[in-house]
Amino acid sequence: MAKTTKEVKDIKRIAVFTSGGDAPGMNAAVRAIVRNAFNNDLHIYGIMRGYEGMIDGNIKRLETTDVSNIIHRGGTILKTARSMRFMTLEGRRQAYENLMDNDIDALIAIGGNGTFTGAVKFMEEFPDMPIVGIPGTIDNDLFGTDFSIGFDTAVNTAVQAVDKIRDTADSHNRLFFVEVMGRNSGFIALHTAIAGGAGGILIPEEETSIEDLVKLLKRSAKRAKLFSIVIVAEGNHMGTVYDIAQKVEEKIHMYDDIKVTVIGHLQRGGSPSTLDRVLASVLGFASVEALMAGRTGVMVGIRNNEVHFTPFEEAISKSKPLNMNMLRMAHILAQ
Ligand code: F6P
Repeated sequence: MAKTTKEVKDIKRIAVFTSGGDAPGMNAAVRAIVRNAFNNDLHIYGIMRGYEGMIDGNIKRLETTDVSNIIHRGGTILKTARSMRFMTLEGRRQAYENLMDNDIDALIAIGGNGTFTGAVKFMEEFPDMPIVGIPGTIDNDLFGTDFSIGFDTAVNTAVQAVDKIRDTADSHNRLFFVEVMGRNSGFIALHTAIAGGAGGILIPEEETSIEDLVKLLKRSAKRAKLFSIVIVAEGNHMGTVYDIAQKVEEKIHMYDDIKVTVIGHLQRGGSPSTLDRVLASVLGFASVEALMAGRTGVMVGIRNNEVHFTPFEEAISKSKPLNMNMLRMAHILAQ
């Protein structure tokens, strides 16, 4: 059961912030929050640079015009940060004082695991401050939601890159290792591998070996496939993408050359996809309603196309399982 405040607090002033790694669609969420707050005669504030801005008192009133013309923009107009100071009690005390000085009644936190971990700590110490979270991370690794804001755009960016690499890989008979983001999860890698027609996939959720990978590539080459693309998630078990490429190079001689491409932070930028804009709008809108209904300590996510609330503790402690049927399919289609 999702938690609610003991007695529903009369909420008049909500502050929103974005925290952790930015994700395309965060602006669309901020826009939906501001517009729905205005629709309910609430005052809305933006905290700049996440928890850092909360500690520095960098809090400003948002007008509905502040969110005009941002739905299509990547990044976050509220800026973001990974705050070390918020990990200290002193930092959190200062943040709370600043919120009190601005008469803030409730918070909406847009971010990922680190953001909600900070929120849990804050709520233990200052339980009179309701907080609702929105999953904003390209990694899509939060338990309790089918998708997080930014994931779809990041995968689209990665697939576009893979399509381009495919042209040159094919022309030169080369094997490419393409690294995508995902420190702890293979969602971006799995979807990129399927949509990009990859010849192999290495992800944190699955232990595999250089020998297995070499076997797979040799099998594909027998079918006159003279080039290949292997998608490597950052957090895979076999080391850096460069180490993997080198180890494979020692065992395979059928390609003209072996190359590495790291897509990196390209995945974090750009105009959000339609799916991310719609998801962000739905979650932003729902987060305001959730606070007004007295909910706190929950992440507003989407499950089977319905808004779904997950307690922060669960969202951060449970690991979101990869769809193993999809992974099995990706391996079969890769051959
Ligand atoms: O958590 C999102 C993420 O994009 C990860 O996939 C990646 O490992 C990390 O952030 C990179 O963080 P930073 O931009 O701080 O280097």
